[in-house]
Amino acid sequence: MVRDEAPNSLDRDGMGQEAWKELMTNLETTIPVYDKVNSIVTLGQDKRWRKNIASFIQPNMDVLEIGCGPGTFSESLQDVNITCLDPSEEMLAVARRRVGEENATFVQGVAEDLPLADNSFDRVCCLFSFRDFHDKAKGLGEILRVLKPGGLLLICDAGKSNALQGLMGRIWMGTVVQWVARRVTKDKNHPWKWLAKTYTHFGTISHYKKMMRQVGFSEVKGRLYWPFFMAERFIAKKPDES
Ligand SMILES: C[S@@+](CC[C@H](N)C(=O)[O-])C[C@H]1O[C@@H](n2cnc3c(N)ncnc32)[C@H](O)[C@@H]1O
Repeated sequence: MVRDEAPNSLDRDGMGQEAWKELMTNLETTIPVYDKVNSIVTLGQDKRWRKNIASFIQPNMDVLEIGCGPGTFSESLQDVNITCLDPSEEMLAVARRRVGEENATFVQGVAEDLPLADNSFDRVCCLFSFRDFHDKAKGLGEILRVLKPGGLLLICDAGKSNALQGLMGRIWMGTVVQWVARRVTKDKNHPWKWLAKTYTHFGTISHYKKMMRQVGFSEVKGRLYWPFFMAERFIAKKPDES
């Protein structure tokens, strides 16, 4: 459930209903130029990060991508049973076209309330969507529920290891990213303003590692991707049944 006591609030643990709705409207506006802007502002590194996450997935696995967006990650996966989940019907419509109806199952829903059975996935992947969860602890709890024992959560998101890096990231997103988005969209009110906003309120790697352990994950790891440290990766395991 979206936090409703402060509808416009935004902090490292989540956001209120109004803030999340506005974010979603902005994300949908990015669809036509999503891949292009991402590729430019990450200096082409986004492909490498996606490949790295995909390297933890083996053939025939049951894989859930939460916040699949227009299907950028899921379309690259082959020989797996993929479920693409997103709250936005607009995002799912594009993902259906790109990934192919026959290659995946498409589900409308939010991470915080997954309409999926317990113990059903070997891997749950969140690429640039964890930052948008409106209740991060609740989303992680749901992921733990749907993972099979021994299954892995794989998260890739914008890098923030400490306050100094957070400041540098905000400067990058507030200048270069805004300039690129304005050029590509030819719109000074382009939707990438929300990217800077969610990044500003995003927590550090250690904050989310602690949260994952509290939720019940084991073997939690989190680190930045080099060389530019623009993105980070988390790997966390659902404990094996004892
Ligand atoms: C920046 S896009 C990422 C798209 C894609 N995963 C990629 O690799 O580029 C973030 C996606 O997360 C989705 N999202 C936002 N809030 C969510 C939530 N609470 N639960 C699940 N997905 C969410 C958005 O609709 C959007 O499609």
